[in-house]
Amino acid sequence: MNYKKDFPMLNKDIIYFDNGATTFKPKCVIESITDYYSNYTANAHRGDYKISLMVDMAYEGAREKVRNFINARSNEEVVFTSGATASLNMITQGFFKHILEENDEVIITHDEHASVVLPWFILEKDLGIKVKFLPLDENLHVNMDNLKKIVTPKTKVICLSEVTNVIGDERPIKEICTFAKKNNIFTVVDGSQSVPHKKTDVKSSDVDFLVFSGHKMCGPTGIGVLYGKKELLEEMEPLIYGGGMNESFDDSDHIYLKDLPTRLEAGTPNIAGAIGLGAAIDYLEKIGMDNINVQEIKLKKYLVEKLSKIKHIDIINPEAENGICAFNVDGIFPQDVAIYLDKYNICVRAGNHCAKLAKNEIGTKNTVRISMYFYNTIEEIDKLVELLSDKEKIMKEMI
Ligand code: ALA
Repeated sequence: MNYKKDFPMLNKDIIYFDNGATTFKPKCVIESITDYYSNYTANAHRGDYKISLMVDMAYEGAREKVRNFINARSNEEVVFTSGATASLNMITQGFFKHILEENDEVIITHDEHASVVLPWFILEKDLGIKVKFLPLDENLHVNMDNLKKIVTPKTKVICLSEVTNVIGDERPIKEICTFAKKNNIFTVVDGSQSVPHKKTDVKSSDVDFLVFSGHKMCGPTGIGVLYGKKELLEEMEPLIYGGGMNESFDDSDHIYLKDLPTRLEAGTPNIAGAIGLGAAIDYLEKIGMDNINVQEIKLKKYLVEKLSKIKHIDIINPEAENGICAFNVDGIFPQDVAIYLDKYNICVRAGNHCAKLAKNEIGTKNTVRISMYFYNTIEEIDKLVELLSDKEKIMKEMI
């Protein structure tokens, strides 16, 4: 399938392998945003005139699309945020800050992104909770035996990415949530690298909180989602107060908040972002999440097959069944590899990828990361492999 007609950025003589950082946007997403700004700009939830009601329908319609996409029970469980990072901070500061106590334990791993790790470090400082690192097995996987060993009666939260952003390790979220529930442990899942790539079903996984970003799934930047079970969101304190989220207030400091999810979306929301995310979901669903997943696994297998034949390349995660492939070129600094590839208009990410503790598990601080999406092609991989196969050329050209 050729997606060039859908994506303006696929017509730019660029090979883009940095989809873990952000994805290209199809025309239908760009047009949905332009349409809002060109034809019915107004605020949401505030006006009594026709175009304002159109905005309400488009904004709440986008929420319904998200609800359906992740199979949440109701639209009250879908809160629009600026992205996964904001969602995670809302969960820690708005919910867990009020219920965790000194010495309560939160389990994460060294492989998590900064947006998973740092909000818990802040609660460690503020409340004296303990952040514990779940040891990964020899294949860098979260396994249930290791998890069961580290859990104690003090464990209150397990917070993990469903798929990690450096090595693409996929966690058994459903199994983890079932185990957590039996032990009265809350589950928080970062779906930034999984929701864009495969079917998500929060009812089936029974996760308590799930977060993800729109821009990693063909949507605009600045829009993301906080999913939470309704009974938990009911207990969440807003971090931001202002217009739109209150029902009324008086001069004796009494504030009456609106119902979910509006009370957690103070101020004018990112209307264009939500509409764009809704259009992105329509687009992805038209292709089919299962087809997207199959295509990415096919590309990954092909890439690994080719790269593993190159002696000077060490692939960190050949097994991971998704579009993420982290590797190093023997004796060459990852950033230099990225700059070399950029000379040929190939975009990859190099460095620690915001997962600064992952070095404790994967044994190297920096890697080159290829992260593919369904619109990448075998021909693009061939071009990449050709450029990487000649170490002399890399050495010569990087200086
Ligand atoms: N979290 C994004 C990445 O992995 C930015 O590149």
